[in-house]
Amino acid sequence: MRRRTALALAALAGTAGCTSVRESSQESPAWGFTGSEYAVAADHELASRAGAGILAKGGNAVDAAVATSFALAVTRPYSAGLGGGGFMLIKPAGKRAVVLDYREEAPSGADASAYLDGNGAVIPGKTETGVWAIGVPGHVRGVLQALSEYGTMSRDEVMAPAIALAENGFPVDAHTHQAMEDILSRGKAHGLDAASAAEIAKAILGSIRRGGGPMTAGDLANYRVETREPLRGRYRGYEVLGMPPPSSGGACVVQVLQVLDGYPRGSLDAPSFYATLVEALKHAFADRAARLGDADVHSAVHADVAEMISLERAAKIRAGIVPGETRSPERYGIAGLKDDHGTTHYSVMDKDGNAVAATETVNTYFGSLVMAGDTGIVLNNELDDFSIRTDVPNAFGLLMSTRNVLSPGQRPLSSMSPTILLQGGEAVLAAGGSGGPRIITATLQAVLQIVEFAKTPAEAVALGRVHHQWAPNQVFAEKRLPREVLLRLENDGHAVVELPASREAAVQVVYRDGGRLFAASDPRKGGRPAGR
Ligand code: GLY
Repeated sequence: MRRRTALALAALAGTAGCTSVRESSQESPAWGFTGSEYAVAADHELASRAGAGILAKGGNAVDAAVATSFALAVTRPYSAGLGGGGFMLIKPAGKRAVVLDYREEAPSGADASAYLDGNGAVIPGKTETGVWAIGVPGHVRGVLQALSEYGTMSRDEVMAPAIALAENGFPVDAHTHQAMEDILSRGKAHGLDAASAAEIAKAILGSIRRGGGPMTAGDLANYRVETREPLRGRYRGYEVLGMPPPSSGGACVVQVLQVLDGYPRGSLDAPSFYATLVEALKHAFADRAARLGDADVHSAVHADVAEMISLERAAKIRAGIVPGETRSPERYGIAGLKDDHGTTHYSVMDKDGNAVAATETVNTYFGSLVMAGDTGIVLNNELDDFSIRTDVPNAFGLLMSTRNVLSPGQRPLSSMSPTILLQGGEAVLAAGGSGGPRIITATLQAVLQIVEFAKTPAEAVALGRVHHQWAPNQVFAEKRLPREVLLRLENDGHAVVELPASREAAVQVVYRDGGRLFAASDPRKGGRPAGR
């Protein structure tokens, strides 16, 4: 199997080679890194090293990002990879930032009615497991487009570390073990064969057709990577770049930061800060549920996003936040939780000031549980990020409006939140995470800890977090938060539910502070950053 995965990667690269790199002067703790030239923070150490190795050879941040992405496809195949999709936010030094959207999209033959039974009830699991759960994958086209438009190296060079990992193998870590145990307790994967790029497409379609799924060769051939403008906001003097639709990530991150920006720095003690953050989150997730979807299909989403991230909206939300109380869900506008680490994020900065924040996914662990032939390529179950009916929540417990009901060619609403902060027009912080809707809240809290409370990235990613996604009407909180914060939330009237660290999102950050670079990989997923 490892050999076949290596061959599949080599077929895409055009050759099979090998790069082996060791670096890094790590700060304590082990998930932190301090350097001065470049850094990569991914949720697997070998993927961070793959990217850092490319930078050591003279590649830029995009070359390193693509190498990291392919290495993650091998080391975290249950999180992301060639059968999935993602978003890459790129800030080239001295140039305008851009977003590449290589999110999966619904096959031409899939619409919401195919997921309902004769009584109009949603067929359980059909968007989660099996061939009807699979969106047209965009990962390979996305990262290769990033390489050709913004990178400097050849496919062979950037894919060599991933090919070496697939050929040589690597130790199974605790997170991989947990993901395997989780999935073995739920179901089994299917399989078929492949050896070149065309054969990989054949293998994908073969597996899907064998199960009677709707994807066609035309769907694969017609898939296009979309180039988009990032969303822009302001927080404490930084310009914030966020992910536009079909993600909700940027709209929620920017809205919440702009709500909090209206409170003078230092004016909120820790309990008040978390209480205010939770109120802002309830508004952001209520807006998400009511207003967001694929703006290429529902053009009204553009205006709603602009309103969501306006300073007027932030001021209105702030005016409605009353210290010491929370309100019932309907007061926040209009729309639950299951486990997910079927997503991965990596952040990269190079010595020239180029920065990348990219989040990629196959959705839940091992995606649809369908493999493309015997290539080792895990096919996503991204169609579960759609609603089938607006009154039935998806795997993450999220309810969504008619704007996110599955239709052919539409891209499902995401929570992935690659985020870059600019100072003087240049990147100083790149962040993002994995973990379903908790990506938004975890990315926000890592950024807030660094910018608001002057924590190092290593401290920021490890601190306890809260999560509120408006529905269900509960605060999910890690036990390691200060006791006075938990008590304050309870006293304000929140139902506080403990969230084990293993279920919280995992955030990857690179931060430039003057001449120094700090990076951190969230200890919750066991990653390690690398750099020089
Ligand atoms: N599949 C997770 C997300 O896009 O939010």
